[in-house]
Amino acid sequence: MSSLLLILALSLSALTLSNAAGGPALFIFGDSITDVGTNNGLDSMFKADHPPYGIDFPGNVSTGRFSNGFNPADFLAQKLGFEKSPPPFLAIANQSVSLKQQIVSGVNFASGGAGLLDDTKFGSVVTLSQQIQQFQTVRANLTQLLGEAEAESFMNKSIVAISAGSTDIAVEFVRTRAPPTPEFITSLRDAYESHLKTLYSLGARKFGIASVPAIGCVPFMRAANDTGGCSEVLNDYSQSFYSAIDPMLQNLSTELVGMKYSLGNAYQMMMSYLNKPSPSGPTELQTACCGGGKFNGQQPCDGNATVCEDRDKYVFWDLFHPTRATAALAIEAFYSGTSEFVTPINLQQLIEDN
Ligand SMILES: *[C@@H]1O[C@H](CO)[C@@H](O)[C@H](O)[C@H]1NC(C)=O
Ligand SMILES: *[C@@H]1O[C@H](CO)[C@@H](O)[C@H](O)[C@H]1NC(C)=O
Ligand SMILES: *[C@@H]1O[C@H](CO)[C@@H](O)[C@H](O)[C@H]1NC(C)=O
Ligand SMILES: *[C@@H]1O[C@H](CO)[C@@H](O)[C@H](O)[C@H]1NC(C)=O
Ligand SMILES: *[C@@H]1O[C@H](CO)[C@@H](O)[C@H](O)[C@H]1NC(C)=O
Ligand SMILES: *[C@@H]1O[C@H](CO)[C@@H](O)[C@H](O)[C@H]1NC(C)=O
Ligand SMILES: *[C@@H]1O[C@H](CO)[C@@H](O)[C@H](O)[C@H]1NC(C)=O
Repeated sequence: MSSLLLILALSLSALTLSNAAGGPALFIFGDSITDVGTNNGLDSMFKADHPPYGIDFPGNVSTGRFSNGFNPADFLAQKLGFEKSPPPFLAIANQSVSLKQQIVSGVNFASGGAGLLDDTKFGSVVTLSQQIQQFQTVRANLTQLLGEAEAESFMNKSIVAISAGSTDIAVEFVRTRAPPTPEFITSLRDAYESHLKTLYSLGARKFGIASVPAIGCVPFMRAANDTGGCSEVLNDYSQSFYSAIDPMLQNLSTELVGMKYSLGNAYQMMMSYLNKPSPSGPTELQTACCGGGKFNGQQPCDGNATVCEDRDKYVFWDLFHPTRATAALAIEAFYSGTSEFVTPINLQQLIEDN
């Protein structure tokens, strides 16, 4: 086969793949909440590439997801008709054939321990700025593959999902041990705005944005509190962050023609569930399934950790991260929730909006 024919065949198979899923492509940015293996090959202490991570993933494999099974990126991808999240950019970047086949379904750039701010960085994890640079490469590949007009129309329909801010807040909290300053919150908001403008300039139009969850209530923070309660200071960070990005997004969407967004209030979703858990959902609200020490929040989830039996009954999988059961509930609230949890439209409306 001539190389021209080969390229044509590859392009066609790529297009068929996207049609098989029947929906828009999904580009995911952010931190460990949606990382599906970006950090596996990196020099970082933030890794989930070892058992018992993935114990409930199909095939019981540790893919790098910070979860016992599927994570929020997977459940979101399922709402778009995919089986699971698109693969990590770093896993496909140097494989030209699979890159071409994959990018029309989307790519996952999220990296555990990454922040909105460039200096929030553990080891060699991929910061938001670097994730967006990687996306720039993919955007160029899309133009090569589809042509400029088709690539623009493709990006108009694609969903860009972002969960970020938790790592920046954790670093600031450890540094200051103090309530959030307005200057810090403003610096996060401005960094977020700048990232969104860059993504928009690269053709992104539909943004699904998750705010920072109630990180004061993770097992690690409860274990650090003599009373076993949530850290009110950290939860204050989460709420302040939400209050800052909500008006920023409102303004940005009037400024940037054609920008649409759905902002999920992860803090509100989590507190609402912790205050009123469903009997059919996770009912262990404090102790992690996998770990050690108080609330299983004092030791990492690794080969020496204790692992609970009834994993779908736990809100938290390890000292920081939700179980797959919690991830599924969060995406459900984001997808079909009311204005209590998601504004100005939910993810379903964002996806279906033309
Ligand atoms: C999953 O795999 C690990 C080894 O990687 C094994 O120890 C464990 O028993 C398996 N768990 C299940 C539920 O299959
Ligand atoms: C791709 O391969 C080149 C050359 O081996 C290397 O320098 C680069 O870091 C690789 N890129 C990724 C994203 O792995
Ligand atoms: C993707 O784009 C980058 C940057 O333009 C280029 O180096 C790379 O070869 C492209 N890959 C494919 C498979 O087209
Ligand atoms: C410990 O938990 C209590 C609630 O039980 C809360 O009021 C307090 O702020 C927490 N202390 C710290 C240091 O996080
Ligand atoms: C949003 O726009 C209003 C009106 O121009 C302005 O007063 C406000 O400061 C802006 N807020 C943000 C977060 O940009
Ligand atoms: C993409 O959306 C923009 C508005 O954001 C619109 O002006 C443009 O015509 C659309 N392009 C295609 C190819 O659909
Ligand atoms: C488990 O604990 C032993 C003894 O402290 C240590 O040598 C080993 O490295 C630990 N294994 C893991 C997976 O952390």
